[in-house]
Amino acid sequence: MSIILGIESSCDETAAALVTSDRRILSHKLAGQEEAHAPFGGVVPEIAARAHAEIITPLIEAALAEADLELGEVDAIAATAGPGLIGGVMVGLVTGKALAMAADKPLIAVNHLEGHALSPRLANPDLEFPYLLLLVSGGHCQILRVDGAGQYRRLATTIDDAAGEAFDKTAKILGLGYPGGPKVEALAKAGDATAVPLPRPLKGSKEPHFSFAGLKSAVVRAFQSGEHRPEDIAASFQQAAVDCLKDRLEKAIEDHGAAPHLVVAGGVAANVSIRSMLEQLASDYNMQFTAPPLWLCTDNAAMIAWAGAERFALGLTDPLDFAARPRWPLDRDAEKVRGAGVKA
Ligand code: KG4
Ligand code: ZN
Repeated sequence: MSIILGIESSCDETAAALVTSDRRILSHKLAGQEEAHAPFGGVVPEIAARAHAEIITPLIEAALAEADLELGEVDAIAATAGPGLIGGVMVGLVTGKALAMAADKPLIAVNHLEGHALSPRLANPDLEFPYLLLLVSGGHCQILRVDGAGQYRRLATTIDDAAGEAFDKTAKILGLGYPGGPKVEALAKAGDATAVPLPRPLKGSKEPHFSFAGLKSAVVRAFQSGEHRPEDIAASFQQAAVDCLKDRLEKAIEDHGAAPHLVVAGGVAANVSIRSMLEQLASDYNMQFTAPPLWLCTDNAAMIAWAGAERFALGLTDPLDFAARPRWPLDRDAEKVRGAGVKA
């Protein structure tokens, strides 16, 4: 059994966690920055980096104290090394390197996306490789075949916006504030999902990818027309997003075959309508469905510690001169598609 300290700072959450290789979460601490970014309607990279730098050390100390551990009792230090906002990533990675050096422990440079991708295995001990993964976050919307830690094949990605970005932009248009996903979901409960006709970009397309930019523009037009209630726009938008995700997953399953498990990860996986669609889809194709608990879907350090534990078990540690990577695809062989990868 090994104990891994995980550090996360790639976007607007600073987090530290201690997780064991036998799936015990000894502690996890998280400091959000919502208030700092709220006046700007989105994450301001410079503000984020400064906020990470202020809180990261006390947060790690608090995580160690809650787990009743000294740094010397940890087996390895796993820090997010990308992709993400580079200033923030550097704060967490440099902190991880300093601790690794001071305590003479191995460093594991974790791809934030791998943190999301493997997080369902922290929650579900029965989830084995390979699995089909829908990775949906603020910066990414991908379908991946996960064959093992470090072994990913990308089957689809977005050609423009990520799904979470579409939720955030819809929230902004409707004046709901940031972060938008949970706010759109809450408002949608009071709305009629059939009230506003909205497009389903790339639905039925022969190419495998996602697109959400046209949906966002249609939301802008629906809002500006003044003909619709905000709750109806929210509900209709959410339904359109659900339909797009479902159609592209069906395409991936038809093109590449089903897997024993259908798995969802990333912040957007917190959305209950999306989860229920996935649950139904999995049962239609005779797949088991796994979704991590809600707190493990959005950014956190337990998933980074767990990805660290999976890599540590394979002997995959990194040198102290590992450089932070603003962009870092999980599948290095995947062809670039237009528009994608612009945001981390
Ligand atoms: O994975 P995450 O915490 O950060 C990134 O790595 O991007 O994902 C954040 C994204 C945001 O776009 C947020 O609006 C979205 O996840 N999100 C949701 C919900 N909760 C968070 N989107 C839809 N419904 C939700 N309940
Ligand atoms: Zn994330």
